[in-house]
Amino acid sequence: MKITKICCIGAGYVGGPTMAVIAKNNPHLKITVVDINQDRIDAWNDSDLSKLPIYEPGLADIVKETRNKNLFFSTNIDAAIDESEMIFISVNTPTKTYGKGKGMASDLKYIELCARNIAEVAKTDKIVVEKSTLPVRTAEAIKSILHNTGSDINFHILSNPEFLAEGTAVQDLLHPDRVLIGGESEAAIDSLVKIYNTWVPEAKILRTNLWSSELSKLTANAFLAQRVSSINAISELCELTGANINEVAKAIGMDSRIGPKFLQASIGFGGSCFQKDILNLVYIARSYNLNEVADYWEQVIIMNDHQKRRFSERLIKTLYDTVSGKKIGVLGWAFKKDTNDTRESAAIYVTDHLLNEQALLSVYDPKVSRVKIQSDLNYLNTRSEQENNDGVTVETCPYEALKNAHAVAIMTEWDEFKTYDWKKIYTDMKKPAFIFDGRNLLDKSEMKAIGFDYYAIGQ
Ligand code: NAI
Repeated sequence: MKITKICCIGAGYVGGPTMAVIAKNNPHLKITVVDINQDRIDAWNDSDLSKLPIYEPGLADIVKETRNKNLFFSTNIDAAIDESEMIFISVNTPTKTYGKGKGMASDLKYIELCARNIAEVAKTDKIVVEKSTLPVRTAEAIKSILHNTGSDINFHILSNPEFLAEGTAVQDLLHPDRVLIGGESEAAIDSLVKIYNTWVPEAKILRTNLWSSELSKLTANAFLAQRVSSINAISELCELTGANINEVAKAIGMDSRIGPKFLQASIGFGGSCFQKDILNLVYIARSYNLNEVADYWEQVIIMNDHQKRRFSERLIKTLYDTVSGKKIGVLGWAFKKDTNDTRESAAIYVTDHLLNEQALLSVYDPKVSRVKIQSDLNYLNTRSEQENNDGVTVETCPYEALKNAHAVAIMTEWDEFKTYDWKKIYTDMKKPAFIFDGRNLLDKSEMKAIGFDYYAIGQ
């Protein structure tokens, strides 16, 4: 099928950057990214590029280059579906918060709405591409909806999961390790290969059946998260035995079978994907009665929750078993550096725990707004909004956030934290001045030389 126009439903962390990079490399294609969220679309269309809804290094430049040339952002979903030969579905697939599978299964209602929308509007043949991360065999449901419209329109479903990581999304999209395309129609697969092939070498484009492709994405995230939980599990043992997790990570990472990446001990993983995708994998395994398989992967989440919990417990214990009324400076709110995304960020859970102990938190993050921080805490429903407001102040200057604090808790590995004047911070803090470095970001001997009581993970 000749593709001239593409539409992407969902203008989020995946839809926006992915379509921007496709547009940059395919100037002959018209690409429209649509969303039901008017504010988000307005932000994508804002002439002030610092107001784009998503912060990713390099993204603003690509949007500037392509927007209103061959890349468009719109809320007119029907028109975009109607005119496009290829439709990507890139909507959110959060963990269900109700009913069967609550807290475990993926909520597929947004996916189904998209499929129904396409079925209603389409008047010509379409290739529908699953970009969202989906439970294995979701394509079957989409197919069933699309093929029961009573018309003779042909729909081909492809699975093309996205492997970008937030914070490096643009580089990941420009230089992917691989592009995965699963499908049943070789011709439909070819159409999508042709689009990627404008910048991704053919050898890196993998073709599989639909189910392998769907399951590969869940599996990739499970493996990545499992590495984090594995190194974090060892970090706790390091703290009790005098071993140093950085040294252990380096030693094992030099084994080519293990490799050095993703072995950074930390406060635990956050982000919208790892937890929800593993929970979903566990749910699927249980639904096939594979209880050992489910238990195995569930342990990755259990370990991650434990790591967050023990970080705040260690902080409280070190501060003489009470943080009540004490100012704690929190550096970083995003779930990782170089993104403004805070979904499932460890900072939220650590702060919540410390608020339960009546600490007074003072937060600084270079990219996350006060409103977002407050709404993340309010969303937990642990206490009233007023109590959250009273317990947490948000500063736009890191030095202000740490002034007169008893302790600093480093939650995100933002590079700028390393460049701060830590001598000045020390002078302005209460003594003894504690640092709890949840990212092993700072230099231990340097901090100790300044006078800090410095605690890192696994050391
Ligand atoms: P997101 O929440 O940032 O964006 C999803 C967008 O879809 C929202 O703006 C929402 O308004 C829109 N939407 C929902 N239902 C809609 C409908 N019926 N019609 C039009 N728009 C609709 O989500 P994000 O992070 O972009 O994730 C999307 C998918 O990609 C998820 O399945 C996620 O698991 C997957 N993914 C996410 C990655 C990430 O790093 N965020 C990486 C790889 C995959």
